Amino acid sequence: MKRSSTYGGPGEQENIQEMPLVTDKSNELVDERGLPRYFDMQAKLGYTKHIGGAGATRELLNLCQISSEKTLLNLGCGAGTTTPFIVNNYNCDVVAIDIKENMLESAVKWAKRKEVTGKARFTVADAQYLPFANESFDILICESVNVFIPDKRQAFGEYHRVLKPGGALGINEAVLTKEPPENAAALLADYVGNDILPTAFWVDRFHAAGFTKLISREYQVQMRDESRSQLGFFTTRDYLGLLCNMLKVTFGQDPYVRDLAKRSLSNPRDFYDFFGYGLIIGWKS
Ligand SMILES: C[S@@+](CC[C@H](N)C(=O)[O-])C[C@H]1O[C@@H](n2cnc3c(N)ncnc32)[C@H](O)[C@@H]1O
Repeated sequence: MKRSSTYGGPGEQENIQEMPLVTDKSNELVDERGLPRYFDMQAKLGYTKHIGGAGATRELLNLCQISSEKTLLNLGCGAGTTTPFIVNNYNCDVVAIDIKENMLESAVKWAKRKEVTGKARFTVADAQYLPFANESFDILICESVNVFIPDKRQAFGEYHRVLKPGGALGINEAVLTKEPPENAAALLADYVGNDILPTAFWVDRFHAAGFTKLISREYQVQMRDESRSQLGFFTTRDYLGLLCNMLKVTFGQDPYVRDLAKRSLSNPRDFYDFFGYGLIIGWKS
């Protein structure tokens, strides 16, 4: 299911930022910075994801009007599959940042394996405090990252600052598509690693930071299509390498990994009815 809308003015749900948060930050699923511990496992695997996979990345980039002469910043690039995908498909120069060093190590390995190191640059950085001059990039993309950022107002201010006038910010976020029952809300928050918010919340953040001409599209998770979209980033060889890593990590006797696997197997059947992903694009005038 797809719901699509274009916003021209400020979001109507001004008070949505005041929503109570559902994640208990004192549990052992998050580290001292509040980031999910499963990120370390993903860095070892060499695989991070956003809902919608390669198809959603393509749609986001096309909506941002990507072309080979544009410079692109990939915010929260994760373990590294998206950056070579962008270079190889659109031939533009990409700078990729992530707050976690182990993610960047994996991302550099992917870039070497895919032979894109000449067109891609990697830096450890926090999206809330970007180490770039004003008006440095034509396009910023940020896939499944903002939900983990504590000061979202600060981060969106930074995105606006480093974009050139006429540049585009495109985000892909896991979003609530309808209000879940209380127990499902907690499970969803554990599954993603932080509280999932509605699309309107993100639209509001774009407006507050000064972005205009917003495009917003919302999709429900479709489990059958989801596995296919995730595979869109990989060749058969990549996939076999990942399977190998996955076996190593799974049989590595890490109690956290065993617990995570048990949790995902015990998700209720209607687990995916309440969330999906939103693609939101805004322009700097
Ligand atoms: C769910 S992963 C998504 C990674 C990648 N964008 C993808 O789609 O595969 C979220 C990533 O955001 C990074 N991250 C979280 N907070 C961040 C911040 N404040 N600044 C930069 N990166 C951050 C994490 O380290 C992690 O690699």
